Amino acid sequence: MEQRIIEIGESFTKELNIVKNSKDLENIRIKFLGRNGLLSQLFEDFKSLPKEEKPKFGQTLNVLKNDLQNNFDIKLNEVSASEKSEKSFIDFTLPGKTKSKGSKHILIQTLDEIKNIFKGLGFSVATGPELESDYNNFEALNFPADHPARDMQDTFFVNPDFLLRTHTSPVQIRTMQKYAPPIRIIIPGKVYRNEAVSMKSYCLFHQVEGLYVDKDVTFAELKGTLVSFAKQLYGNDIQYRFRASFFPFTEPSAEMDIWWQPSGKEGRWLEILGCGMVDPNVLKNVGIDPEVYSGYAFGMGVERMAMRKYGINDIRNYFDNDKRFLEQF
Ligand code: PHE
Repeated sequence: MEQRIIEIGESFTKELNIVKNSKDLENIRIKFLGRNGLLSQLFEDFKSLPKEEKPKFGQTLNVLKNDLQNNFDIKLNEVSASEKSEKSFIDFTLPGKTKSKGSKHILIQTLDEIKNIFKGLGFSVATGPELESDYNNFEALNFPADHPARDMQDTFFVNPDFLLRTHTSPVQIRTMQKYAPPIRIIIPGKVYRNEAVSMKSYCLFHQVEGLYVDKDVTFAELKGTLVSFAKQLYGNDIQYRFRASFFPFTEPSAEMDIWWQPSGKEGRWLEILGCGMVDPNVLKNVGIDPEVYSGYAFGMGVERMAMRKYGINDIRNYFDNDKRFLEQF
């Protein structure tokens, strides 16, 4: 018995000295201090000793037990402290985390570009609310109640008299009600349409409206302005065409197309804007005499303009907020 007590004590010390990590330490705990470990075996054997030997070995066994437990606890502290500091070790050679800086959304970049071009052509910027009256959005723009032309724009109505504006044209009305000609403005802003979301259409998009009202404004000036604009945005070599069209608030009306040639695919005409001479009825509605003044107006979709410029083919990309898309611009 005595011999075994000494041996166990010695081998415990030896093994404890070469412990490297908490796993080694756990193995030692199981081997010596565990429920079926060497120490409890000794206590088991102790039970069958002759009565006279018990006091002597009882004492030695208790000393051994305390020793092992104390030394074990000391080692445990050491090991867990060093493992903790290993974890918090800072490797200064690792590359840092880069913080991504915010940047302007491609639509805002395009809007800025469009605004700057028109500012250079003598236009100033006006804005208006996105929640509009039926009167400003339709009625005053010569869409009579129940006229089928209203179906051209699927509308989100808030109540029978108010809606989310379907175009920026109501700001024409607001501006002409407030200011006398000459008026030369562009109106950038969000518009809403109750359309099924697809590659080509979204419930929300951006427009830039233009309005010029003065004496003797002509269709030739309108064309000249729009061609100059398109060349500045897309380059001098673009191909464009004007097609006759219809809008209740302009007469005559046209649409401007530009040629879109995606690389490796078939090219096609892409409609970029609607335009025309301000309808005399509209001028009358805001109290401007159509016998004295004339004007032109145009409206373009910013998403479309950017699609053509940057080769984006799905309108939903603008609104998904996917960094992989946004970071390309
Ligand atoms: N408001 C028209 C639309 O959204 C565009 C337009 C504006 C057409 C001004 C002519 C003149 O479709």
